[in-house]
Amino acid sequence: MLAATLDKLATLSRLPLGKATAMPPQMYTCEEIAAHEQAHIFTRQWLCAGRSDDLPNAGDYLSYEIGSQPILLVRQVDDSIRAFANVCKHRMMQLLEGKGACPNQRIVCPYHAWTYDIQGQLVAAPHMQKREGFDASKIQLNTVRCEVWEGWLYVTLSDEVPPVNELLAELHDVVADYHMDNYITIVQQDHVWNTNWKMLTENFMEGYHLPVTHRATVGGHFPVEDTRFSSLPPNPAFTYQYFTKQDTAPLGTAHADNTVLQGEQRRTSVLPTVFPSHMYALAPDHLWYLSLQPLGTDQVKIRYGAALAPEVLAASEEPDFLISDVIEFLDKVNAEDRGVVEGIFKGAQAPLSEAGPLCWLEQENHEFTQYLARQLCK
Ligand code: FES
Ligand SMILES: [Fe+2]
Repeated sequence: MLAATLDKLATLSRLPLGKATAMPPQMYTCEEIAAHEQAHIFTRQWLCAGRSDDLPNAGDYLSYEIGSQPILLVRQVDDSIRAFANVCKHRMMQLLEGKGACPNQRIVCPYHAWTYDIQGQLVAAPHMQKREGFDASKIQLNTVRCEVWEGWLYVTLSDEVPPVNELLAELHDVVADYHMDNYITIVQQDHVWNTNWKMLTENFMEGYHLPVTHRATVGGHFPVEDTRFSSLPPNPAFTYQYFTKQDTAPLGTAHADNTVLQGEQRRTSVLPTVFPSHMYALAPDHLWYLSLQPLGTDQVKIRYGAALAPEVLAASEEPDFLISDVIEFLDKVNAEDRGVVEGIFKGAQAPLSEAGPLCWLEQENHEFTQYLARQLCK
């Protein structure tokens, strides 16, 4: 099954968009494909753990997991962010959960209170002095590669993948005018949906469904025929498209105090997908993002968040109401997406299912097929 499915993927990836179909259903349902993706994609690439402003002060931490590896990210005194294996060097207890501030900038294991500083160095281990030769200074949490790029936190288990700023150098010019690193996070949550991770990625990558699935929320404010795709040569690390909002949209156009964006840019959102699974909709006044990892074939672990441009919050007389309104609105949009991506996963498991032809608005879906073929068909 694995070899046959990968053959189909390779063949499909070589077709032009005008002749391409969606990926075969086995790409979403086959356990061997899921295992192959773990080995060839998720342990080898950069994944997004959140945003830098999730950790404003030294000692603030954020936990994350890459597959079965728990990770903690912690803000250092010099303002950098470092990541470590979130596993105690004594009997492997998980050290920190969720996010918060480490009291006194110390990480204390909840099992026997081995205590680490925020550089991952063991500094105290109760009752261990009787053990001959025990030297706390030789014990250090395992380091995990972590980079901050334009306000995003990326982590990887790979020693080989090139630095983020190298991989995403060309994306910088596309997003720079929005100054998204200044956006202020208003929500960050983890969810699990009952679908294959790729179905959620592909759903993000096309605006074709917006007027239909999202007719009750954002659908009416996007003229989908105005969708524009990347004008850069294909990039192995990312892709993106632009959506333009009508001025009537409740969210998604530049605030009057935004004097940087000009003309059409003031109502244009850019939607990058950083392969394999970090996606964000970057609007002049807000952004929202998804970072995905598979849980087998049939569930996806989602880190979801949203942020507002600083001038939007600064000008609001009732920022708490504004924030709760935005969150409520985005929750509705997410619920609409959940309905369709769980629905198509049911469809993909049906014996009579087969992949159909793609629309021009699904250009990025075909780019994703080509990305997967590059990673998986070696
Ligand atoms: S497992 Fe952490 S102190 Fe024992
Ligand atoms: Fe959607």
